Amino acid sequence: MVNFKAPHRPIISYRPIRPSDLEVLEKIHGDLFPIRYESEFFRNAVNGHDIVCWGAVDRSRPNAQSNELIGFVTARIVSAKESEVEDFISFDLSKPDQTLIYILTLGVVESHRNLGIASSLIHKVIKYASSIPTCSAVYLHVISYNNAAIHLYKKMSFQCVRRLYNFYLINGQHYDSYLFIYYVNGGRSPCSPLELVTLLVTYVKSGYYLMVAKLWKNEDKKISKWPTSKESGYLLPVVQNKRILTAEESTQPNQVCKLHSQLLFGSTN
Ligand SMILES: CC(C)(COP(=O)(O)OP(=O)(O)OC[C@H]1O[C@@H](n2cnc3c(N)ncnc32)[C@H](O)[C@@H]1OP(=O)(O)O)[C@@H](O)C(=O)NCCC(=O)NCCS
Repeated sequence: MVNFKAPHRPIISYRPIRPSDLEVLEKIHGDLFPIRYESEFFRNAVNGHDIVCWGAVDRSRPNAQSNELIGFVTARIVSAKESEVEDFISFDLSKPDQTLIYILTLGVVESHRNLGIASSLIHKVIKYASSIPTCSAVYLHVISYNNAAIHLYKKMSFQCVRRLYNFYLINGQHYDSYLFIYYVNGGRSPCSPLELVTLLVTYVKSGYYLMVAKLWKNEDKKISKWPTSKESGYLLPVVQNKRILTAEESTQPNQVCKLHSQLLFGSTN
């Protein structure tokens, strides 16, 4: 296990990962993850073949260690259409080649945790994703018991969109995973049924307020013709509102107002 002693005042800096990081990168992955990655994955990562990655180093460590990785993030660009999160991406017809960034691995050695290093590494990925015009989201999987990582993604405004049952098989045991997404460049999820209902309610409400405002204006105009209560001075025939609404409805072009008054007073046809 890579055994780092936490210095009193770490000086963290971030840099691209390079071929000389191969050994340490492989070692930290071995220490932090229960899954074994093939050598090819590490070779591709350090050579930038199909994988983008950033590393964190602690400049306050002595000598050569000051440039040794203490944290990393690796990611890959994938086609949105071929990704498993296709259902969560609203497709933009003007961008047929829409892409996503999939975070493959993220880790920080124990001695340097809770210093914001993973957050900064994720920010690098988000910034990179935002710089690619075709990219609409960053996404990743996290094993369901990894509370530290789940807390981190939620804190960074990733949205948990799905639980995948038995996604991981580790030492003969199945574990669920959560799928987290962070939208960039105006990317968004397609309209859910709930969103559609909310939109409809908002539309109906605004139509209703518009109608009430119009009625109020009409009533103001008619005020002089209406009898008033001698005792209170209030307008008397409140029940006439129904009639007024129905009459207004027949001249109101807004279909939402029409729908709403039909709901309130029954069909007027
Ligand atoms: C997850 C991991 C990358 C976080 O790295 P880090 O550099 O410590 O993360 P940060 O310092 O940016 O943020 C840590 C946040 O997690 C919180 N946290 C740490 N351990 C936690 C736990 N067990 N439960 C809940 N929250 C926890 C911290 O309090 C902090 O949140 P805060 O800022 O609200 O206080 C690191 O723990 C790690 O490498 N774990 C092993 C590998 C791994 O699980 N990778 C993720 C795979 S999806």
